[in-house]
Amino acid sequence: MPIVTSTEMFKKAYEGGYAIGAFNVNNMEIIQGITEAAALEKSPLILQVSAGARKYAKHVYLMKLIEAAIEDTGLPICVHLDHGESFDVCKSCIDGGFTSVMFDGSKHSFEENIRLTREVVQYAHDHGVVVEGELGRLAGIEDDVNVKAEDSSYTDPDQVQEFVEATGVDSLAIAIGTSHGAYKFKPGQKPQLRFDILEEVEKRLPGFPIVLHGASSVIPQYVETINSNGGSMPDAIGIPEDMLRQAAKMAVCKINIDSDLRLAMTAGVRKHLAENPADFDPRKYLIPGRDNIRDLVRSKIVNVLGSSNRI
Ligand code: G3H
Ligand code: 13P
Ligand code: ZN
Repeated sequence: MPIVTSTEMFKKAYEGGYAIGAFNVNNMEIIQGITEAAALEKSPLILQVSAGARKYAKHVYLMKLIEAAIEDTGLPICVHLDHGESFDVCKSCIDGGFTSVMFDGSKHSFEENIRLTREVVQYAHDHGVVVEGELGRLAGIEDDVNVKAEDSSYTDPDQVQEFVEATGVDSLAIAIGTSHGAYKFKPGQKPQLRFDILEEVEKRLPGFPIVLHGASSVIPQYVETINSNGGSMPDAIGIPEDMLRQAAKMAVCKINIDSDLRLAMTAGVRKHLAENPADFDPRKYLIPGRDNIRDLVRSKIVNVLGSSNRI
């Protein structure tokens, strides 16, 4: 099974009322945990790589690890650049074997976003690679993505048709109230998603795959495990899984998850080291981290994405 694009995956997901999980990968254990879960659930999969991940692990290592996972599991996997900031980073990923790239022009004006996205689409399509664009702006902080709440904005449904037609993108990320990182809502705040915007977008772009970034639920069990084993995370609140499930039944075909993976892995490692303080063998303490990733992804596939048995 070669690396595949998301075109067929999204078509089936749209028609079937489910979504494909796009999980961020940074090292071997994360790739193994995710792909083991997808293989157990017979689920299609997108593995996505951020600029930070490429800096940390190097493009070639991640590519070879993903190729190894495909050989090991036989899964169809799409390899995607997450939050490409420039034509050059998108080109480097296209030339380096990715089958999908995101050009994130959401910080630019509407016109500039169109101009820059179109350049990436032209190069990508000439090389058989698909492109995700973004309209609207998510709040949140991660290594290479940092947007203050006051600079964030919901997607304007009146702009989506013009954006998609003018750029030629294959999927579109929209802002409906999700945000990046583990601190999506303040304590006491009620998580809410703007399903009315999603519905409007769906009406204007019938059959077109929509993407949801910032979709970690920030599972309390992992935060508790981290904090009871030496961690000190403040109250962290994410997107309730039932809301994501609802979005997956609508036009949302790709749901991005990173923070939940980080929490699951950290909880496993911290718990192991707290219980085995004399341990210093990475193979021992990384196993519970990897197992937590597998269990988390399995539960996302079943409870959020609905993508089991879709291969
Ligand atoms: O949306 C951003 C991703 O979670 C990647 O985060 O830039 O810290 O790798 P990162
Ligand atoms: P989370 O921080 O909610 O996991 O979002 C990840 C993401 O959107 C990656 O692009
Ligand atoms: Zn994102």
